Amino acid sequence: MCGIVGYVGPRSAVEILIPGLARLEYRGYDSAGVAFWEEKGIAIIKQAGRIADLERSLARAGVPDARAGIGHTRWATHGVPNTINAHPHRDCTGQVIVVHNGIIENWMELKAELEANGHEFASETDTEVVAHMIEEMPEVALEEAVRLVMKRAEGALALAVMRSSDSQLLVGARRGSPLVVGRGEGENFLGSDIPAFLEHTRKMIVVDDDRVVAIRPESVTVTDLDGNPVEAAERLIEWDLEAAEKGGYATFMEKEIFEQPKAIADTLRGRIGPNGLVRLTEFAEAERRLREIDKVFVVACGTSFHAAMMAKYAIERWTRLPVEIDIASEFRYRDPVLDRRSLVIGISQSGETLDTLAAVRYARAQGSVLVGVSNVVDSALAREADAVLYTRAGPEIGVAATKTFTTQLVALQLIGLHLAQVRGTMDEGTIVNLVQGIRRLPASVEAVLETVPDITELAKELADTRDVFFLGRSGDFPVAMEGALKLKEIAYVRAEGYAAGEMKHGPIALIEPGVLVVGVATDSHVRGKTLSNMAEMKARGATILLVLAEGHRDEALSVADHIVEVPSGPDLIYTVTSVVPLQVLAYQIASARGLDVDKPRNLAKTVTVE
Ligand code: F6R
Repeated sequence: MCGIVGYVGPRSAVEILIPGLARLEYRGYDSAGVAFWEEKGIAIIKQAGRIADLERSLARAGVPDARAGIGHTRWATHGVPNTINAHPHRDCTGQVIVVHNGIIENWMELKAELEANGHEFASETDTEVVAHMIEEMPEVALEEAVRLVMKRAEGALALAVMRSSDSQLLVGARRGSPLVVGRGEGENFLGSDIPAFLEHTRKMIVVDDDRVVAIRPESVTVTDLDGNPVEAAERLIEWDLEAAEKGGYATFMEKEIFEQPKAIADTLRGRIGPNGLVRLTEFAEAERRLREIDKVFVVACGTSFHAAMMAKYAIERWTRLPVEIDIASEFRYRDPVLDRRSLVIGISQSGETLDTLAAVRYARAQGSVLVGVSNVVDSALAREADAVLYTRAGPEIGVAATKTFTTQLVALQLIGLHLAQVRGTMDEGTIVNLVQGIRRLPASVEAVLETVPDITELAKELADTRDVFFLGRSGDFPVAMEGALKLKEIAYVRAEGYAAGEMKHGPIALIEPGVLVVGVATDSHVRGKTLSNMAEMKARGATILLVLAEGHRDEALSVADHIVEVPSGPDLIYTVTSVVPLQVLAYQIASARGLDVDKPRNLAKTVTVE
């Protein structure tokens, strides 16, 4: 996720671009930049840091008097978040300037071709290939050059491009990543999202996939990739600015819950090869050492620890390596037995959690191989690791983790299958089937999100419940733990996550009428056992809510008071779908209780103290 803005018209472009970028900062904030025409051509000002830092630099230099320009706020996916990798990017001549949101999957291949033709690259980004590709077509109109780039570039991308030969033209393009045009009087705007220009106009055009848009002060023209004009309907924006920043959702957390299908698709992008197997280029350098490991440790905190729990089930089953998991703050103090043949996987969405960092540093000192799973490019965890898999969920603003958790699960599934491939512990046909299951996850999570109105009704009914147990077995156990944590942290309801089979060893004494028990039973070999455990809870008076893989309703009717069905799919992989109703349940109970879900009391998004 990144934010794009563009302006062409009679006003000072930079004075429009900077506030526009600030409104898009929720889309990313590791570096920012603007490009604008000045007398001698197009100038670029960019730097690492937040929009406010860029604004201060511009103010110091004197705000340029330009009438058109493009700007970008970055959330790194390729290349560390430094000034060189900040957008805009330029070609060799400085005449073609590009900002980009998304991932160009075949950028390495495109870059190799361009380098063979003599192009020199300044940055480590995938974006820069676009500028050099357009440089190859000096005689071609900019709109057409962008269409040709769109035909060759694979993946999700939104672009805004300018060329020094035409100071009145901005060209935008879109596939997969969002892009909207704001229509003004004698001026027009481009943005990744409506807040980029909402204070200037309420008229907008949504650019559809595989469309190229040329904007000038007086005109907006939309074409398909063959250059045929396309009718683009103008819409009136009815949202106020705050609603627009949250994409029309009531809170960031709600928005982030709904972003999960896209976030999972982004995690997967480019990581599955044409043969249907996992392809993690990130691990190429560490490959030899990964082949030699004889034990795996996974360390993390909070929600990320629940992802670690899931990783244990998956990696042990798929690779036959023993896996230990640790809450990061416990790891180094228990003196674990580590050596050069141990693989330590640190999971942290922020990549800055102090306990997790201390744990991986401890492992490094013992010579172990370190793999990081993080949502933040170049985070401290990423820098510490021998190899890192980024989850690419985009910034998460709500304090409670949602999309960063489901994407962690998917990233860990990819790591588990990758290890199985490298070590030859599973036959390829089985891996391909599991990968197909992973590929279906975005659509299945989308299907779960369609049931939100039903879960909302249920949440209203259950909003006064004060004692809740979340139970599951195998891969459903971490989901139960996560469901309990979500309810605790945003709804302030005392909730316990337990392995369903463990209840009879003590906690069952707490079950009585008025207690809610949420059972998770996906398509696994232990589903029947979970249902029996739920029957034990029901017999003691608990109200039972079951999150159940579809196709098993008949087995569950006698034990459940309420059933939420989730799509069926391969064991361990489809647990991703069952956590979504639990996020929604916690969210709706917290909302029904009138709580501030984005900023729960006593919590911080990143915990950098021990
Ligand atoms: C819960 C939550 C926290 C974090 C934990 C670790 O919703 O967000 O439990 O999961 O603080 O954070 P990261 O993943 O940044 O290391």
